[in-house]
Amino acid sequence: MHRKTNVLLWLVCICVCLKTREAWAKGAGEPLILGCGLADGSGKDADGRQWEADAKYLSGGNSNTFRASYQDPSLMSEIPYMWARVFTSEAIYKFPVQPNQRYWLRLHFYPSVYGSYDPSNSYFSVTTNEVTLLSNFSASITCQALSQAYIIREYSLAPLNSDTLTVTFKPSDKYDQAFAFANGIEVIEMPDLFDSATVVGFSEQSVDTKSLNLQTMFRLNVGGQYVSPLQDSNLTRAWYDDTPYLYGASVGVTNEADDNVTIDYQTMPHYIAPPTVYSTSRSMGSDQNVNMGYNLTWTFQIDPNFMYLVRFHFCDYYYNRVNEIVFDIYLNNQTAQAEADVIAWSGGKGTPTYKDYVVIVQDGQSNEQLWIALHPSTKTKPEYYDAILNGIEIFKINDTTLAGPNPQPSDMLMKSEQQSQTFNTTTKGRRTKTVLLSAGGAAGIAFLAAICIVMYQKKKRAPGSNSHTSWLPIYGNSPSSGSKSTLSRKSYAGSNVSAMAQGLCRHFSLQEIKQATNNFDESNVIGVGGFGKVYKGVIYNGVKVAIKRSNPQSEQGVNEFQTEIEMLSKLRHRHLVSLIGFCEEQSEMCLVYDYMARGTLREHLYKGNKSVSTLAWKQRLEICIGAARGLHYLHTGAQYTIIHRDVKSTNILLDENWTAKVSDFGLSKTGPEMKNGHVSTVVKGSFGYLDPEYFRRQQLTEKSDVYSFGVVLFEVLCARPALNANLAKEQVCLADWALRCKRNGTLEDIIDPHLKGKINPESLRKFADTAEKCLSDHGLARPSMNDLCWNLELALNLQENTEGSNNSSKGEESDFQEVSLIGNEEGNSTSEHDTRQDSGDSSSAIFSQIVNPTGR
Ligand SMILES: *[C@@H]1O[C@H](CO)[C@@H](O)[C@H](O)[C@H]1NC(C)=O
Ligand SMILES: *[C@@H]1O[C@H](CO)[C@@H](O)[C@H](O)[C@H]1NC(C)=O
Ligand SMILES: *[C@@H]1O[C@H](CO)[C@@H](O)[C@H](O)[C@H]1NC(C)=O
Ligand SMILES: *[C@@H]1O[C@H](CO)[C@@H](O)[C@H](O)[C@H]1NC(C)=O
Ligand SMILES: *[C@@H]1O[C@H](CO)[C@@H](O)[C@H](O)[C@H]1NC(C)=O
Ligand SMILES: *[C@@H]1O[C@H](CO)[C@@H](O)[C@H](O)[C@H]1NC(C)=O
Ligand SMILES: *[C@@H]1O[C@H](CO)[C@@H](O)[C@H](O)[C@H]1NC(C)=O
Repeated sequence: MHRKTNVLLWLVCICVCLKTREAWAKGAGEPLILGCGLADGSGKDADGRQWEADAKYLSGGNSNTFRASYQDPSLMSEIPYMWARVFTSEAIYKFPVQPNQRYWLRLHFYPSVYGSYDPSNSYFSVTTNEVTLLSNFSASITCQALSQAYIIREYSLAPLNSDTLTVTFKPSDKYDQAFAFANGIEVIEMPDLFDSATVVGFSEQSVDTKSLNLQTMFRLNVGGQYVSPLQDSNLTRAWYDDTPYLYGASVGVTNEADDNVTIDYQTMPHYIAPPTVYSTSRSMGSDQNVNMGYNLTWTFQIDPNFMYLVRFHFCDYYYNRVNEIVFDIYLNNQTAQAEADVIAWSGGKGTPTYKDYVVIVQDGQSNEQLWIALHPSTKTKPEYYDAILNGIEIFKINDTTLAGPNPQPSDMLMKSEQQSQTFNTTTKGRRTKTVLLSAGGAAGIAFLAAICIVMYQKKKRAPGSNSHTSWLPIYGNSPSSGSKSTLSRKSYAGSNVSAMAQGLCRHFSLQEIKQATNNFDESNVIGVGGFGKVYKGVIYNGVKVAIKRSNPQSEQGVNEFQTEIEMLSKLRHRHLVSLIGFCEEQSEMCLVYDYMARGTLREHLYKGNKSVSTLAWKQRLEICIGAARGLHYLHTGAQYTIIHRDVKSTNILLDENWTAKVSDFGLSKTGPEMKNGHVSTVVKGSFGYLDPEYFRRQQLTEKSDVYSFGVVLFEVLCARPALNANLAKEQVCLADWALRCKRNGTLEDIIDPHLKGKINPESLRKFADTAEKCLSDHGLARPSMNDLCWNLELALNLQENTEGSNNSSKGEESDFQEVSLIGNEEGNSTSEHDTRQDSGDSSSAIFSQIVNPTGR
């Protein structure tokens, strides 16, 4: 008996030893990228990173592996998030590390239902050798509050005096059914990125961050776009767009380095930040007076009672002399740095540099926000009054604990959840996301929170304070046109944009709006939407605008109005219609947009059932590519996803240069409840364009937009409406008819007669294949907007190769100059097909958005 136990013990011992040796065989120093519960060995994620199984590093505790019951559309691949390890008792991972080295530790959580485990019951703590990373942590609440499907927590662990890093998962003992879980763990050696930094407000003091643990709170590529972990300089960090964090109406302008500027790191290590971060920046603008009047401000949601390390990344690639731009940096309204001069710090043009400051955030201060503000300094009499910033990193620092409370989902979010209770959630804990899905969970990024805060503050200061509310453009024009730079005082291309750059876009008074529209004269009406009428108007300097005026009887109230302002003002893209300003006065609410001189795509394709199109194939392709890029930006532009929900040819507008711009994406949030309409508003969109899967399952994903876009593609090819009740039964619905013809090989018979013989067959095939894929029954089988752009560009290339010297398209173009928006008459009575079915038909209106509520 006794002997038996001994043998057993001995065997166990051997096993443990073997296991440990196996683990250590990989060698300390190599990155460990572990998918928790990955059953069959390993696999690659969407970025192509290889994830290994975690089992051999695990010791003790009860754990089981599960496959998630639901794949959120924002999950680009099954690995690592579709598998999880669920811990029902304390469990320890042991990782081999090199002593005296700093390590990244990244934890990945996707709160979905795993077997019988419901993530809303999951509360747990995570600790390492020395520091508590999470405690009473609910991934489910956190994801809900941030409106993300999954989250990644990134820590930089101080060097250990040990060759083993232990990471302990422990279910909370405060809740009966509590369990812990994880989907992924990364342990990666990192260089010593941190040194000492001065404490803001205590200029004599500094904190030595070398021996402290840090949690990444925010990491932004200011004035630039998302940088994926693989594009980072070897440290697999993700850098996000800064626009969601900008505060106030004045958000400066973005700049991008010329091609002939090289980012020269000199002695600074490359790993500090990749060149992409340093080659884009945000500055205040070209008007010195305007710049003196405001602070370029970002705000961040943080946990109080902690110290934060704020790292600023700078690189000036336009100026090259000291004292050309000098500015002050404020952290939480205290001066962190007076008279910052990037060139003086870095030593020259194109040379990056960075500065660290530590700020202590006490409880009860500032609504748990961190404020960062820049303002031109005049003290040294610099040449220009401006400020510049290329990147921000914010880390929470502590020696023993980094755990904060779970964030509180905002009221606005809770309300929208309640409203969407009509949706049947097949999976508990999964939000019914209407607009805001998150595509990339950064370490604690609170986009929604940011919106709420801004809205809240707007409301607070709304009455009587029209002092400084100019809407400056965020994203300028095409990044390739070079007009993005404003440091350069180069003017923007396009009259409206340059007007904005000069500070014209702003809060309009009602008087100004009335003047612009000739007191809302009916003759200026260019469209009607659920929001009210859309007028054409002219503001100062003859700039043409489109003005959406809220209908006082409209069910879309103040909330939608403010949501639209908030959303649109943060979304700037060459292929999205820009919001110029707004008016809110005496219960009047108006939104002022760029005027789209050439109206809708639809009116250039057909009137009624007749093809009117003089658009060459190449031009149609360019328009489709533009619109696809706009939608791609909506889907992936920031770390959240916006689903348009109403993609159709009347929501694709054309400016005087035939640039396609997507409109009407502002109100796609939670459908207004139309009490009088007899149709449930659960499914929003226009018939003829509606994704059948969305209709069936009432689950909205960005692939629903892809479906609708596929219908638009066939509309462009065939120059006929999406629905035409006058045709034979099998032809009524374009999507069905085109698919059938495509499959029977008779597609050529139904293409626009104006195009016959003018399309390169390869180009046509590529285009038709692409459109067909968009119309796949299942969302998963449809391409992403990015793939779509690619394929359409390919179709364009194929066409261009054949056209070659044939410059007929130029000749045609001059004919188009005559087409103008005034030709709206066709929208009147010649409604050849049932307007109840296709709401887009009742007008060739710009911004016709929710034209006919009964049609939905
Ligand atoms: C990344 O690491 C590789 C190999 O360690 C090195 O050769 C390369 O220079 C590094 N790149 C950067 C940008 O640091
Ligand atoms: C970039 O190069 C072009 C010509 O190659 C030159 O005209 C331009 O001034 C250069 N830009 C800068 C910022 O040096
Ligand atoms: C900074 O000042 C702004 C406005 O003056 C105020 O709203 C904000 O709460 C202040 N922030 C802090 C951290 O004190
Ligand atoms: C900019 O911020 C600082 C610090 O909060 C404040 O003192 C100053 O008044 C602000 N300036 C403007 C123009 O808002
Ligand atoms: C770490 O955090 C705790 C709790 O917030 C705090 O009391 C302590 O002073 C912090 N330590 C450092 C070094 O900041
Ligand atoms: C744990 O988190 C939940 C949700 O944020 C909170 O309601 C609860 O009070 C917390 N419990 C403890 C013991 O801190
Ligand atoms: C919603 O789900 C419940 C149970 O899961 C089911 O009984 C009910 O029929 C569903 N409702 C709809 C509208 O699908």
